[in-house]
Amino acid sequence: VSAQTTATISEPSEKVTISKHIYGHFAEHLGRCIYDGIYVGENSTIPNINGVRKDIIAALRELDIPNLRWPGGCFADTYHWKDGVGPKKDRPAMVNRWWGGVTEDNSFGTHDFLNLCEELGAEPYLAANVGSSTVQEFTEYIQYVTHPGKSPMSDWRRENGRDNPWEVSFWGVGNEMWGCGGNMTPEHYADVYRQYATFMTDWSNTDGFFRVASGANVDDYHWTEVMMRDIPKSLIEGVALHSYSFVEWNEKGSASDFDEAQYFSTMQTALKMEELVTKHSAIMDKYDPQNKVALVVDEWGGWYEVEEGTNPGFLYQQNTMRDAMIAGVTLNIFNNHAMRVKMANLAQTVNVLQAVILTEGEKMILTPTYHVLKMYKVHQDATLLPVNFESPTYTYNGEILPAVSISASKKESGAVHISLVNIDAQKEHIINLSMEEFGAKQLTGTILTSNSLQDHNTFEAPEKVKIKAFSKMKIKKGQVEISLPPFSVVVLQTE
Ligand code: AHR
Repeated sequence: VSAQTTATISEPSEKVTISKHIYGHFAEHLGRCIYDGIYVGENSTIPNINGVRKDIIAALRELDIPNLRWPGGCFADTYHWKDGVGPKKDRPAMVNRWWGGVTEDNSFGTHDFLNLCEELGAEPYLAANVGSSTVQEFTEYIQYVTHPGKSPMSDWRRENGRDNPWEVSFWGVGNEMWGCGGNMTPEHYADVYRQYATFMTDWSNTDGFFRVASGANVDDYHWTEVMMRDIPKSLIEGVALHSYSFVEWNEKGSASDFDEAQYFSTMQTALKMEELVTKHSAIMDKYDPQNKVALVVDEWGGWYEVEEGTNPGFLYQQNTMRDAMIAGVTLNIFNNHAMRVKMANLAQTVNVLQAVILTEGEKMILTPTYHVLKMYKVHQDATLLPVNFESPTYTYNGEILPAVSISASKKESGAVHISLVNIDAQKEHIINLSMEEFGAKQLTGTILTSNSLQDHNTFEAPEKVKIKAFSKMKIKKGQVEISLPPFSVVVLQTE
């Protein structure tokens, strides 16, 4: 057990809302995320609604997922939306050049995706093909999806079975334009973005467009600088950022068979998100002191080697307590930066990278990451509460990381929620939390931990890692003593 650390939670001097959209997800046409994951087809024996698994819909609803990004990722800049509407039997096939070279029959298209979002109560976040398409194709897409009246594209939509337009605010204008989106320079892409954004006509949205420029790869600060400098604020609502956690990019290691050295390296990359968000935000502050443009971390999560015997292009990996640590610390970072980070998307929802759900035939399991998202959903749209605290350290092989991360928020009802993560692989850490301003007499809590960091859920043992009630705390006159076991995520609440 380490020495005790004190932390203070207080009322904010300025109200900042933790946007629910920080808790967004991402479903790409990649491996078994859509096909043989979310979508099994109308004729499947697996219970489904219009081909989408009912168990997945129920599980995602339980998370209150606020938005879902689709169809990519790298796939988006190869996707031609017209191939995915109309009678399924007439749709042309396509080859997924980025992910495994597999042939897709386009049976899951725009109607399927937007109807799924309605079913989930989640807002769609569509990524447009900028890399290998045209401004014309994009403007027609927007007209098809959102035009309420008579127009060539909305008439076609009606023919295809949908009278009313869908409500779509979030539009990504290309993806990873520095790489798979077209290997562009930021200066060139900023011009291309301006052109695409100019022709985006907002037909029916009540909330207005939220246009996201493809953003920086990790610490490419120049990219953010150019987006903020060269794109007029009248044409942009968000700038993206992608950053993954891993042991080493060129030697990712197994998702479930790793040692403490590999765990420590993964945590180093995960915690780098703090520095990334701080530095990208500082550039944005310079060009946008009014805080109009959001930082949108629309790809984050752990990335390891694929499971043995699976297609290397499918990015299918297990999900352990290490991933729960990544999720806990990353979401705490986003919460604490809610002033600028207004949207984020975990990569990816089902069967790909840091998935919340894995499937095998008719079986479905929830991963440790799923449980963290479930515990943290209380922060969605709540008011951020500042936490004053200096973390104890987690030392490995002479290297140091902050062991504990905390974020806190207050609901309109007055209920306060505090999420704490101890990433230390060995030590319990004790936090003395002072929250006198809130006059709480009673706290309840939940915990996610397990016997080993490598623990995960399998189709044979789906509940090895699960949420339990948390009781290792004492409360006295607004002071709470909390004992955080090694590698644990705890969420406390006052009411
Ligand atoms: O999430 C997998 C891939 O990672 C996405 O397609 C791409 O945008 C990123 O490089």
